[in-house]
Amino acid sequence: MSKIIIFANQKGGVGKSTCTLLAANALSQAPFDKSVFIVDADKQRSIARKRMADLQVYDEESPYQVQQMTVKDFLNEKTGIYKLDSDYDYVFIDVPGKLDNNLPIDQQEITKYLQFVDYLFIPFVPGAFQMDATMDFLKIAMKVKSQRKGKGRDLNIYGFVNLFEQRTLDDKFLLEEIEELQTMINVGFMENKLNRYALYRNTNTLISFYERDPKAKAEKNFKNWFLEFNKIIK
Ligand SMILES: Nc1ncnc2c1ncn2[C@@H]1O[C@H](COP(=O)(O)OP(=O)(O)OP(=O)(O)O)[C@@H](O)[C@H]1O
Ligand SMILES: [Mg+2]
Repeated sequence: MSKIIIFANQKGGVGKSTCTLLAANALSQAPFDKSVFIVDADKQRSIARKRMADLQVYDEESPYQVQQMTVKDFLNEKTGIYKLDSDYDYVFIDVPGKLDNNLPIDQQEITKYLQFVDYLFIPFVPGAFQMDATMDFLKIAMKVKSQRKGKGRDLNIYGFVNLFEQRTLDDKFLLEEIEELQTMINVGFMENKLNRYALYRNTNTLISFYERDPKAKAEKNFKNWFLEFNKIIK
């Protein structure tokens, strides 16, 4: 049985795909060497396309497979999630940032994927109006969690901060809001944040940042975040 992991938020551009790659790259290579698979469920195929481009640029072998899937492919009993679940240590699902405006959230594609997920990580990012959308999404996630409870595999939900800068008022407000949120709902929050670093903008589908340059600030930030992440999903 694998661990099925998703970075999701109804907001676009909060780092869902970036964090998926950061985690998948590190987990699939030394010293972790896990078998990893990424389901690219985004119609824009951002990760699948990136993998193709990366293979042209870097002289590296693919540390894991990326495959684009529709919901139908995902639910296919022979080749979809049931098969992946038995074949890999970790399966990541990368979902689009845009929702279908014509559908209520509980009928959105993301909700279908959430039925299978073991660990949902929700990126919280600083900035006005970010929190409201994230809260709407969190409510749906909590609903799916309660529907799945006691049916064998639980949906574990964690929030974490991405794109943190430390200096701005937005960052300060975000931390205050998260603190307040934690007194109201029972959701785990990661202690380690991912800062806004150029390193993360250069995330690709091949190279692990884990201990790549242990003295560099950004790499240290990643390592601390990743070690906590890895402890959660173990
Ligand atoms: N911690 C970070 N530091 C710096 N840049 C970041 C960080 N996280 C994400 N980014 C950048 O922010 C942009 C959006 O990130 P990404 O594409 O991962 O978000 P997403 O949530 O997957 O977006 P979409 O909703 O379009 O799928 C990208 O340019 C990415 O490189
Ligand atoms: Mg994305």
